[in-house]
Amino acid sequence: MVLKYFEIAVIPGDGIGKEVVPASLNVLNTIAELHGGLKFTFTEFPWSCEYYLEHEVMMPETGLETLKNFNAIFLGAVGNPDIVPDHISLWGLLIKIRRAFEQTINIRPAKYFKGLRSPLVNPKDFDLIVVRENSEGEYSEVGGRIHSGKDETAIQNAVFTRKGTERAMRYAFDLAKQRKKHVTSATKSNGIVHSMPFWDEVFRDVQKDYSDIGTASYHIDALAAAFVTKPEIFDVIVASNLFGDILTDIGGAIMGSIGIAPAANLNVNGKYPSMFEPVHGSAPDIVGKNIANPIGQIWTAKMMLDHFGEVELGKRLLEVIEEVTEDQFKTPDIGGTSTTNAVADEICARLLKSE
Ligand code: NAI
Ligand code: MG
Repeated sequence: MVLKYFEIAVIPGDGIGKEVVPASLNVLNTIAELHGGLKFTFTEFPWSCEYYLEHEVMMPETGLETLKNFNAIFLGAVGNPDIVPDHISLWGLLIKIRRAFEQTINIRPAKYFKGLRSPLVNPKDFDLIVVRENSEGEYSEVGGRIHSGKDETAIQNAVFTRKGTERAMRYAFDLAKQRKKHVTSATKSNGIVHSMPFWDEVFRDVQKDYSDIGTASYHIDALAAAFVTKPEIFDVIVASNLFGDILTDIGGAIMGSIGIAPAANLNVNGKYPSMFEPVHGSAPDIVGKNIANPIGQIWTAKMMLDHFGEVELGKRLLEVIEEVTEDQFKTPDIGGTSTTNAVADEICARLLKSE
């Protein structure tokens, strides 16, 4: 008997998105097969740069309306700069969805991954997650340019609302409750004298509601350094849009390959679906060779399972991904010789075997 039924909109997108997404759907189907109470339906949409060449839009006008009714969106990667400029492809699809569906929180985990070579010397067993404010902050459209020549001037304003700031922080504290009960705030109130003291104030206010959660506050420069020198001391880190963007790239780098890093764009008001996508792009340089690492995409599937409340299944999936990596089923970007499909197939086989 099916107890839980999830309808998922699938957008493979461009390049290796079309390779790693099908591989990941096989994994999700295997999980559903093992777990009688769970069922997924996948509805695929061909929205991509190729779609743009034919229709002059990245997705149809009714696209958002169509997507709205799904439980989640599972996205590969968008971008093929040879045929469509990146600002058109990304803003016409990915960013459009993030904004319209109020996906105001972006989360990206990074952990010491068994079987992978981290660029850190003697890495300890780190396991952290960055909660990034995903809708305002430094990435605002407020500002402008005036004059030219010697007087040329650019003004870019950052926007920090109490609502947006508090929302990200509350998400971080709630997440920490299920983890190691610690939240670090990424600030820079010694240099940015309006928005960051405000950020600190909101952090102190929110903290009062979570007396069982430990806290720390780091200036972003020192925090970036600590991600390299001692990532094992962190649990949940909450950061503004720009700071979070930079920190999560360091998070991906210290794991060992961009090909394994996952992300989730979360809608937290329940009005629209959330979107799950790996950190990497469409990797035009390796497309069509069946060597793209599918782990980033499969790990985003784990985050989607968590989001659906299937935390145990998600946990098991990540364990299996690590086992397979440790046993050298690895694509070339992490020093192996396996194909995309071989890695995904091995993950499916072990899930079946472990049942
Ligand atoms: P990229 O992430 O596509 O590739 C960077 C490097 O990492 C390449 O050498 C690539 O081969 C390698 N790589 C990436 N994913 C991999 C995987 N799963 N397995 C093995 N190697 C992998 O970034 P790039 O080259 O800057 O961008 C290519 C296109 O992707 C552009 O159009 C860009 O705008 C778009 N892009 C889209 C994103 C998204 O959809 N969220 C994110 C980043 C870039
Ligand atoms: Mg980035």
